[in-house]
Amino acid sequence: MKILGIETSCDETAAAVVNDQRQILSNVIHSQVETHQPYGGVVPEIGARNHLIYLQQVIDQALSEAATPLAEIDAIAVTAGPGLIGGVMVGVMMAKAIAAAWSKPIIAINHLEAHALTARLSDNVPFPFLLLLISGGHCQFLLVRDFGVYHLLGQTIDDAVGEAFDKVARSLELDYPGGPQIERLARQGDPKRFALPRPLKGRPGCDISLAGLKTAVRLVIEKDGFDKERDQADLAASFQTAIGDCLIDRLKNCLESLPHSVKHLVVAGGVAANQYLRQRLQAEAAAHNVELVAPPVALCTDNAAMIAWAGIEHFSRGHSSALTFIPRPRWPLTEL
Ligand code: KG4
Ligand code: ZN
Repeated sequence: MKILGIETSCDETAAAVVNDQRQILSNVIHSQVETHQPYGGVVPEIGARNHLIYLQQVIDQALSEAATPLAEIDAIAVTAGPGLIGGVMVGVMMAKAIAAAWSKPIIAINHLEAHALTARLSDNVPFPFLLLLISGGHCQFLLVRDFGVYHLLGQTIDDAVGEAFDKVARSLELDYPGGPQIERLARQGDPKRFALPRPLKGRPGCDISLAGLKTAVRLVIEKDGFDKERDQADLAASFQTAIGDCLIDRLKNCLESLPHSVKHLVVAGGVAANQYLRQRLQAEAAAHNVELVAPPVALCTDNAAMIAWAGIEHFSRGHSSALTFIPRPRWPLTEL
C-alpha cells in the first residue's frame, strides 16, 4: 500500500509517499521560513498564497522521487486541520481534486494525530504511549491508549513551548524561528546567570504555563545595563534551563499518574529538535523506567511523511473520508 501525503497547515508546503512497510519513498518540503522571516512569524495570508504557488510542483517532485506515478497511489492523505485555515484549504482542495480526477480514496488527517503517530513510522512504537507534543502552536501531554484513543493529560494554559522560544528570540532580535537560535546561543551561556521563574513548578497536575517566564525574560532585556552582545548567551541558557525545569516538573506528575503498561514517552513537534530538552526528557523518563522515543528531527518538524503515515494507519483499518469533508482551523485530538 502506498499513500501520497499532503501538508499545508502552517509554513511548510510538503508532499510525501510512504508505504505500509514503513518506508518513506519521498519526503519533499518547500519551507517558507525565509518568506516569513521579515515579519518575525508566519503571516497566514502569505502562507496560503505560497502553498498555492508551490504545492503542485512539490507533489510532482514527491511522486517522481518515489518513482510512483499517481496511478499506483492507493489513497491521498491530507491535513484537514487544525492549522491556518487558508493553507489547510489549499492542501485539501488540491487533494480533493486529485482524488476526484483519479478516482482515489481520500483520508482527512488531523495534523496532531499525524505528529502523535510519527514514532510508529520511525520506531514502530506500540500502544499505549505517552506523547509530549511541543511545537510552535501546540504544547500538550497526551496518553495515546490505542489507535484513535487519545486522553489529554495536560496542556499549556498560555504559550506553546515553541512560541515562547520564538517570542524570547524576538525580544533578543534574533531571526525567526527562534528555537534553533536560542539553543545555539545557550550552548555558550551560563544557565545560572539570570534567576528566572518556573511557573506552576511543584503544583499538582500536568498543565504548563510559560507566559510568566517569557515576560520575565523580556524584563531582563529591558533593564538598564543589559548588554546584548555580552549577556544574550547567558540569558538564552537561563531561559532554556527554566523551560527544561518546567517541562520536567510537569512530566514527573504525568509519569506518576500513568498506568504501568506505558513504557514509552514519545516527543514530537518542532521543539523536539532541541538536544538539551531531549537529554532532560530522556533522563526523567529513564528514572521512571520509560524509554524516550524521539523521531529524527526531519520527522519531528512539519512534514508530509507523517501525514502519509497517518493515512496508512487509517486506510489499513478500512477508514477513508467522503469528498465533502470540511477543513477545520480547530480540531482537538480528543474530538477524534
Ligand atoms: O512543528 P513545527 O515545525 O511547526 C509547528 O509549530 O507546528 O515547530 C516549529 C517550532 C518553532 O516555534 C521553532 O522555534 C521550534 O519549533 N523549534 C525549536 C527548535 N527547533 C525548532 N525550539 C527549540 N529548540 C530547537 N532546536
Ligand atoms: Zn506541526
